[in-house]
Amino acid sequence: MTFDNTAKKLQSQATVLDIEQIRADFPILSQQVHGKPLVYLDNAATTQKPNQVIETIDQYYRQYNSNIHRGVHTLSERGTAAYEKARLTIRDFINASSEKEIILLSGATEAINLVAQSYGRSRLSEGDEIIISQMEHHSNIVPWQIVAEQTGASLKVIPINDAGELIMDEYRKLLTDKTRLVAVGHISNALGSINPIKEIIDLAHEYGALALVDGAQAVPHTVVDVQALDCDFYAFSGHKLFGPTGTGVLYGKQTLLEDMPPYQAGGDMIKMVTFEKTIYNDLPYKFEAGTPHISGVIGLGAAIEYVNNIGLQAIAAYEHELLDYATEALTTVKGLRIIGTAANKVSVLSFIMDNIHPHDLGTILDHAGIAIRTGHHCAMPVMQHFQIPATARASMAFYNTKQEIDCLVQGIEYAKKVFA
Ligand code: ALA
Repeated sequence: MTFDNTAKKLQSQATVLDIEQIRADFPILSQQVHGKPLVYLDNAATTQKPNQVIETIDQYYRQYNSNIHRGVHTLSERGTAAYEKARLTIRDFINASSEKEIILLSGATEAINLVAQSYGRSRLSEGDEIIISQMEHHSNIVPWQIVAEQTGASLKVIPINDAGELIMDEYRKLLTDKTRLVAVGHISNALGSINPIKEIIDLAHEYGALALVDGAQAVPHTVVDVQALDCDFYAFSGHKLFGPTGTGVLYGKQTLLEDMPPYQAGGDMIKMVTFEKTIYNDLPYKFEAGTPHISGVIGLGAAIEYVNNIGLQAIAAYEHELLDYATEALTTVKGLRIIGTAANKVSVLSFIMDNIHPHDLGTILDHAGIAIRTGHHCAMPVMQHFQIPATARASMAFYNTKQEIDCLVQGIEYAKKVFA
């Protein structure tokens, strides 16, 4: 299929999205804020939850709240079955080859910390190198700084250009026979840039290094196939994927996970405990100590089913239409500068305004019912590159509309008048 045909096909899929019907699934969207209809444009921070997710969680607490993997009673068996069904849904969603490779955690942050402390701390030593990038979220920087300090390994950083793209030639230069691990985000939360992740992974492998992908911003916007990517680890959060907060996933290749020591210890991660010796449980339970976020994981399964029913390709096509519309609309605003103009982007728009601090803009927009995020977006090195303290960021999901983008532009124009 040619590129044009693919684009046309995606476009025709986009037009089949019934946005009004979709919006009706999200009860939170129909409220007013400060007397104005809510315009929710902070989806990179967290997404809203459809009735299907809310009702699934409600049902768990009303009908079969119980602990899992432990009881022989009916409620516990129902809970365990629902929890493990969600794991299979997650496995299929990212095309992992086995449910043993799906570790259920509290978020992408915990997933990355797990790899840093389990794999990194036990395998890295003086002289080893870890490569990250300048556009990482703090949760894909600080865990590596900590493990570097603990082990004597050092951290190398792939720089970005002024469009907010990774400079791949610099990445190639950083790779050496000392590189042990490359940890890079699939999509930047602060800039929206989509990184050439397959190429990054393949290059890491050429040097015998492992590749971890922070996919927190990718899974809501794009199809992820961990086998096709051939990444060693892939981390993402449930709450950015229309699921509950406090849920997240670490995918890891089974052979690697088998060899890694436990990260946390407690119930469910053991097979047998005596004071002399403890035998750890099999995958994936070896990395799931303690009672997990049962309702959350079951809710995440429902969120993924919801997304699957709409179809990620249709979602991506529609969001791309929104991104193009919003980019053009914001470009017409005098005094506004978009931060992050990568050729390949998702529907995240960071920007700054002449004479208006992002926080002031965010407050004025809030009074118009418009929710955006302002600040450094947990990506201070990005701000350092652009020599700015903060940006305003509008991030869109498939339930947003062009009319909402018009509201955003009107709100920005109003803010300009206030600060004129
Ligand atoms: N990491 C989230 C964001 O980008 C919270 O807003």
